[in-house]
Amino acid sequence: MFERELATTAAAMVAPGKGILAIDESGGTIKKRFDSIGVESTVENRRAYRDLLITANGLSQFISGMILYDETIRQAARDGTPFAQVLKKNGILAGIKVDTGAKSLAGAPGEQVTEGLDGLRERLAEYKKMGAMFAKWRAVITIGKDIPSDYCITANAHALARYAALCQEAGMVPIVEPEVLMDGNHTLERCFDVTEITLQTLFHELHRQRVRIEHSILKASMVISGKDCPQQASVQQVAEATIRCLRRTVPAALPGIVFLSGGQSDEHATAHLNAMNAAGAALPWPLSFSYGRALQAPALKAWKGQAANVAAAQQALFHRSKCNSAACFGRYQPEMEKEVLAA
Ligand code: 13P
Repeated sequence: MFERELATTAAAMVAPGKGILAIDESGGTIKKRFDSIGVESTVENRRAYRDLLITANGLSQFISGMILYDETIRQAARDGTPFAQVLKKNGILAGIKVDTGAKSLAGAPGEQVTEGLDGLRERLAEYKKMGAMFAKWRAVITIGKDIPSDYCITANAHALARYAALCQEAGMVPIVEPEVLMDGNHTLERCFDVTEITLQTLFHELHRQRVRIEHSILKASMVISGKDCPQQASVQQVAEATIRCLRRTVPAALPGIVFLSGGQSDEHATAHLNAMNAAGAALPWPLSFSYGRALQAPALKAWKGQAANVAAAQQALFHRSKCNSAACFGRYQPEMEKEVLAA
């Protein structure tokens, strides 16, 4: 069922030069973001902020889809048009985060498993009716002393596959996101090993649970040095290690891979993606972006909760989207960063 619709949606999500904007922060996370600019996290402030991101002009050249949060997909633009419809009108696919967050994994200190499978079939049907074309589920893998455990990786892969199968049944493309966190002092090599086993386990589980790889999108974390590792890998090293790891683990049938930014600076996230695409390697899948922080950070800073700053914030979002679109072709140049200041 939905074979053609799923294939069309998946292809559109990773169309050449386009990526996904993640604006699906949960209540706790958006409060943290608002705290950083001194804005109170009220329902209306969250609506106004998402409004400026969703209604920004011209974004569809660079952005194929936006991932919304449950509260946001139920909200509307100032003129009363539901956000999902605004996106559709602008040629952008609406997506929805459907997991209910990472919780402590019983018997595994320091590790987490993502919840949200209960009632998921019914929730997906409702989101579909509201216009969502794809969904997202994020699993969290922490690197530390003696972790991640095989138990944690397997439990998360199992949940991701159950979610993905339900999405395809509902006619929505699943973004499967096993995020290996940057937190810690681990090396690039350690991140490589953990990412490799995580992806291998995930694709094994997707296969076992009859998820069609052709109708799924992987949201991957890059193979990168831990934030506190004294030896920080170069942009080139990150690009090479990430590609090597993906080649080993990701089936060629997958329509595309999008990266999360995971706490990298916005310019770093763009440079890494660019280096991967500039390498000119013949890869079986397009490599694009699905950034949250790395696309939103300059817009959030420009906005400061003031209606008068909406245009400047939209301009900042447009610029970051343009830089990342260029990175999809390996054509990003650091000089592009000056454009927004000149404008
Ligand atoms: P970041 O790019 O800020 O990591 O967010 C992407 C995302 O959707 C995480 O689930």
